Amino acid sequence: MTVRVPAKVNLQLSVGPVRDDGYHDLVNVFHAVSLFDEVTAVPADALSVTVDGPAGVPTGPDNLAARAAALLAEHVGRRPDVALHIRKDIPVAGGMAGGSADAAAALLACDVLWEARLDRETLLELAARLGSDVPFALLGGTAVGLGRGERLTPVEVTGEFHWVFGYADGGLSTPAVYAECDRLRAAGEQDSVWPEVSDDLMAALKTGDAEALGRALHNDLQPAALSLRPSLRDALAVGRDAGALGSLVSGSGPTCAFLAASLDHAAELAAALNDSGRFAAVRPASGPVPGVTLV
Ligand code: C5P
Repeated sequence: MTVRVPAKVNLQLSVGPVRDDGYHDLVNVFHAVSLFDEVTAVPADALSVTVDGPAGVPTGPDNLAARAAALLAEHVGRRPDVALHIRKDIPVAGGMAGGSADAAAALLACDVLWEARLDRETLLELAARLGSDVPFALLGGTAVGLGRGERLTPVEVTGEFHWVFGYADGGLSTPAVYAECDRLRAAGEQDSVWPEVSDDLMAALKTGDAEALGRALHNDLQPAALSLRPSLRDALAVGRDAGALGSLVSGSGPTCAFLAASLDHAAELAAALNDSGRFAAVRPASGPVPGVTLV
């Protein structure tokens, strides 16, 4: 059983104050893009995870895909006797929800393998227990996430947008980036406003206007990511100088996302970003794309 699952970029990530449970209330506009991990699930004596891709992905019970299989097994009352193999193309700890994507993929793969046939609502509920970004990886497309990002409403999008992603060498820890955001706010270095969905962003998506989308992109975690990784400032400038319609840090970073005007423009932009030598890898992609899909 093999499942393909996309990465996400946040078109708007507006972060409210920290809550009693340690999470932040968000307006999180997720957009699934055509960078994919693949998760294969085969029957086995015990739960195991192997990874084909860069170092740094845990293979033990802490792997989020393993936790997804264990959670689903518990829910349906069976042993998690499955071997998961993950083929990674989404950057690790990159701000593109690769770990969450793998968890969503494991949920669907095991659901099919074990013939559990849970309804979509139940899968989304289990996904939310695994992490704030896991439900969106099931859904895909473009969606507004409220609460800690798990309460999703699909967004109407016209056409396709073309992106280029600049991967960094080494990841950033999501909790560390949120903590840095809190610190910058406490120090008066960043404003804190109650998050609201951007009308300009919704209009740009509805009309398929890439220039307007470029202007509407927003990430409240970007100052924190730049504070922890100052070299990202120059990395973003390379894309801007090369004519990107919009440049921002993806989620908690350090991956940088650049919006292009067309497929050809994305290829030109990718060449310029590659030539700059500032990225470990440069990958064009388009969005929106569907969420987890059986291969
Ligand atoms: O939900 P998930 O486990 O993916 O979140 C990882 C971390 O990101 C949390 O432990 C928390 O530090 C931070 N986070 C947050 N507010 C959110 C989502 C995530 O503070 N809405």
